This record gives sequence, structure tokens and C-alpha cells, in this order.
Amino acid sequence: MSYRILSGFRPTGRIHLGNLFGALKNWIELQENNECFFEVADYHALTTNYNKTDELRGDIIEMVIDWIVCGLDPEKSVIFVQSDVKEHIELFILLSMITPLPWLERNPTLKEQLKELNIRTIHFGHLGYPVLQAADILIYKSTAVPVGEDQLPHIEFTRELARKFNNLYGEVFPEPISLLTNFARVPGPDGKRMQKSLNNTIFVSEEPEKIIKKVNQAFTDPKKIRKDDKGHPENCVIFAYHEALNSKDREQREKDCKDGKIGCVQCKKDCSSLMIEYLSPYREKRKELKKNEGYVRNVLKEGAKKACEETKKTISDVREHMKLW
Ligand code: TRP
Repeated sequence: MSYRILSGFRPTGRIHLGNLFGALKNWIELQENNECFFEVADYHALTTNYNKTDELRGDIIEMVIDWIVCGLDPEKSVIFVQSDVKEHIELFILLSMITPLPWLERNPTLKEQLKELNIRTIHFGHLGYPVLQAADILIYKSTAVPVGEDQLPHIEFTRELARKFNNLYGEVFPEPISLLTNFARVPGPDGKRMQKSLNNTIFVSEEPEKIIKKVNQAFTDPKKIRKDDKGHPENCVIFAYHEALNSKDREQREKDCKDGKIGCVQCKKDCSSLMIEYLSPYREKRKELKKNEGYVRNVLKEGAKKACEETKKTISDVREHMKLW
């Protein structure tokens, strides 16, 4: 079974382990046997960062460098910047006409952001975030969307909106399914979801000294104080890293932790060595690509062209079904 796939990230600069294991690894596998579109959602970035655009361009390039470094292949996938493909906006405005306000007001992601980022006034564009995301997905007539768990409400919203559109104007859009990643969850060293705004990220391109520092500061099992206390690896950030990095000895390690045979200090040491080794090819590849930003810009330019070919077809289909002028 092969899918038509779209997914994206907001441009947040260099990517971190949460992005890598939470989504990107999944994309990289999917590009082998599916038709894939991956976008840099720069309009979406403006919903919470409309007053911080100085770094936007740099963040876009840095993120796309990491995408390619980690294995997204411009020969296999279409990689582009959302604002280069204007049809996203046209579909956004058309979909916004059929979106009941209560569907947006109950969006759990919005509620979380308001709390986390201490936002007092909601802006119109921010409220409309899921409509724009639905437009991103539906404009490619996507059948599947690989995302992290946090995005599930947005995909459910997209399905509802597609259904509503199809009921009103006729069958245009497939109802896309979400594809969750099979990789282990990777929390920040503080145990919270790894996220730039929480300042708890470990970057894929992190320098070895910083890896050691961040791993050393990570939360382990609070009940394991002495080396021979019995541990609870299921509640330990370091063990989560061992799992994600696929430590060869992770089963033994889990057992030794539970039996109080290994201490957190040793476990952290092993973890940072493993992480440094795991990330080292990425760091090397990044150095090379960094010297060749022109190549990255060209990938995005070509990607936008290919994306436009698809979006133009869909918009014309939509306009036809809606009997627009
Ligand atoms: N909301 C996604 C995020 O914050 C980014 C995004 C924008 C997206 N459009 C999308 C994800 C379409 C999947 C499909 O990471």
C-alpha cells in the first residue's frame, strides 16, 4: 500500500532529537515507497512568532540542512517552503469559509500554547492554525500524514473538514490518516517534551562537550539515590535515550538498573558516549552541507516548482466543484 504523503515542521532552526525520533526518522523510511511532500511551515511559525522574524530565513535553511543531513533525499521527496506555494493560501481561505468557530475554539493545541507561552490575546491567524494545516494536507490530496502524537488533533480536524467539504461540493479530498512513529519517545533532559521554547533540546548537531553536559544534567529516577538502590528505568530520561539510540545492551541495562547493579553516573557516561558516536556522522555531513548553502536553496526552489504543479491541479478542481468564478 502506497500513500500520498505530506508533513511538515515549523522552521525552528537546527533540529533536535525529539524531532529526529518523533517524526523525521519516520519520514525518511516513508520516502522509500511513497510519494512524499515535506514542507517548511513558515506561515505557521508566524502564529506564535509574528514579532520574531529576524531569524526566520536562517532558521529555514538550518532546518532544511538538518533534514537532508538526517536522510531526507531531494531525489525521492519534494522538499519546499510553504510560502513559496501560494495555492496553500487560496485553499486556506476557502476552507475557512466552512469552518465553524467552535471547532477552532476547542483545539487542545491552542489551549496548551496559550498556557505554556503565556499568551493573553489570541490572534485571528493563530486561531486559524488548524485550517491552514488542513489546507497544507488537502492541497496535495494526501492520504496519510506522518506526525508526532501532539499533532493528532490537527489531523482529526483535517479529516472532519475534508468530509464537510466533500459533502457540500462533491468528492474532492481523500480523508487522510495519521501515521505515528514507531521510534521511542525522547524527552528533554528535564523529562518534559523536548521543545525549543522550553530550552531543553539536544540538537542532532550538538557538540560532544555539550552532549556530555546535557546528559549529565538529565533527570534520572528520583527514587534511585545510591548506586545500589533499585531503579525504575521506565521513569528515567537516560534510559529513554538508551532505548532511542538502540543501545546493544539495553535489556541487560534495564535489568541491572532494576536490580540496583548499575548506578546513574555510569549509565550517564555510557549514554553520552553512545550519543556522541551515534550523532557523529550527522555532524560531519552537516559541516559539508553548511559550505554549500546554494545547493540547499536550489533544493527548495525545485521543490516549490514540483509542489506547485500539484497544488495548481487541486485548486482548479476545487474551484470547479465550488463553481467559483
Ligand atoms: N503543525 C505542525 C507542527 O507544529 C507543522 C505543520 C504545518 C504540519 N502543516 C502541517 C504537519 C501539515 C503535518 C501536516 O509541527
